[in-house]
Amino acid sequence: MGPKSIAIIMDGNGRWAKSKGLARSAGHVKGAKNIETIARAAKAMGVKYLTIYAFSTENWSRPDDEVAKLMELLEEYITKAIKNAEKNKMQIRIIGDRSKLSDGLNARIAEAEKITSVYDEVYLQVAFNYGSRDEIVRMTKKIASDVSDGKLSTDDITEETVSNYLDTAGIPDPDLLIRTSGEQRISNYLLWQLAYSEFYFTKVPWPDFSPKNLEEAIEEYNNRNRRYGGV
Ligand code: FPP
Repeated sequence: MGPKSIAIIMDGNGRWAKSKGLARSAGHVKGAKNIETIARAAKAMGVKYLTIYAFSTENWSRPDDEVAKLMELLEEYITKAIKNAEKNKMQIRIIGDRSKLSDGLNARIAEAEKITSVYDEVYLQVAFNYGSRDEIVRMTKKIASDVSDGKLSTDDITEETVSNYLDTAGIPDPDLLIRTSGEQRISNYLLWQLAYSEFYFTKVPWPDFSPKNLEEAIEEYNNRNRRYGGV
């Protein structure tokens, strides 16, 4: 069976732009546009859950104008997703620490999540101000607080409890992780959730990553699964 849950590290926007003599922001614009293309293709290929890395907790250290551009692109993306909700039948969730995002952006996010919550053909998780270690710290605090409030007993904490306290609660762990643009690192992404995932690396930078490239990744996953029996 093909992968039902795919995570993507969308890397290489900057290098793509540089190779074309463009500003880094042009790479992010092209990269943001590509999300729609790939989400649609993934849905057509039977993928039910797509979890994409759009802004990491480390990305705040980039130049101010680049951070501002990424915030702007998220807002634009969410606005577009609200407009296309009915057509796409896609549920959207933002994962990561929202407390550092502006009130305006948070309001937009809440609106998109509410409007799309009725759709279940495909689920898109956008990781924004996301870091896996940060998520694990926040999860630990929530569990500690529920234990101290008497809502949860220490003896009842299981792996499932941990999964349910993470931002990805309810989302099946990725079957496949794809990272574009040549780096072969996990970069603080979904450390708990990727425990049993297959990893696929490609040199293609994210703005050029096409439905054909996605199909190749899925084919490779299917071949590995046939060889090893899918365990
Ligand atoms: C990596 O490129 C890309 C990111 C910082 C994350 C992905 C962002 C997008 C696809 C655009 C924004 C979309 C939304 C919805 C906010 P890089 O700049 O690290 O590339 P480089 O390694 O070549 O410099």
